[in-house]
Amino acid sequence: MFARMWPRMRQTLDSRGMTEHRRALLAGLTGQVVEVGAGDGANFAHYPATVTRVLAVEPEPRLRELAAGAAARAPVPVEVSGASAGRLPAPDASVDTVVFCLVLCTVPDVDGALAEARRVLRPGGQIRFLEHGRADSPGLVRFQRVLDATVWPPLAGGCHTSRDIVTALERAGFTIADLRRYNFPPVRTPWSFHARGTATVG
Ligand SMILES: C[S@@+](CC[C@H](N)C(=O)[O-])C[C@H]1O[C@@H](n2cnc3c(N)ncnc32)[C@H](O)[C@@H]1O
Repeated sequence: MFARMWPRMRQTLDSRGMTEHRRALLAGLTGQVVEVGAGDGANFAHYPATVTRVLAVEPEPRLRELAAGAAARAPVPVEVSGASAGRLPAPDASVDTVVFCLVLCTVPDVDGALAEARRVLRPGGQIRFLEHGRADSPGLVRFQRVLDATVWPPLAGGCHTSRDIVTALERAGFTIADLRRYNFPPVRTPWSFHARGTATVG
């Protein structure tokens, strides 16, 4: 159900400003990129020409088919794979950047996904992330936890609202830079607390 709804939801979010955040997420990238959980391929149009290849993994078949269409129209070479975050089809230390965009809320094992990203990154490589997550007040975090334990993951394709992705990146041994925290949309809801930034190995 989520796979059928996401492309339309995503287009609405993009038309309300998410496109600018996607562009900022990918600005300045070079070389080989792995994008984890690419959905219907919304980011592909925004990769700069300095990127030589994107390996986009998307385990959900309907979204993967849409991503393949977006890959054909992308300004850089994009290959779409049915792999998932826990097992990326790339050799050790082979890529410059791993992109996580609105996906670490959903993967079953965040620490495993970050360890796998670390495996494929070359020395000096980076993660670029744009994720929603934990709110800034105890009351709202309590509400997020209730949502996560009840209705929200089944309704939203496994999404969780209360994950603290920046802390998870630090716990995985990454150093965070260029961190921007903001509410999107610009109101305080369980889904609006976003973080965007770069996480480097070591
Ligand atoms: C909210 S959508 C975001 C899609 C896309 N990244 C974007 O920004 O439009 C979450 C995506 O994560 C994918 N996903 C869920 N579990 C995953 C996993 N274990 N590995 C890779 N992708 C996963 C879903 O299939 C879905 O495409």
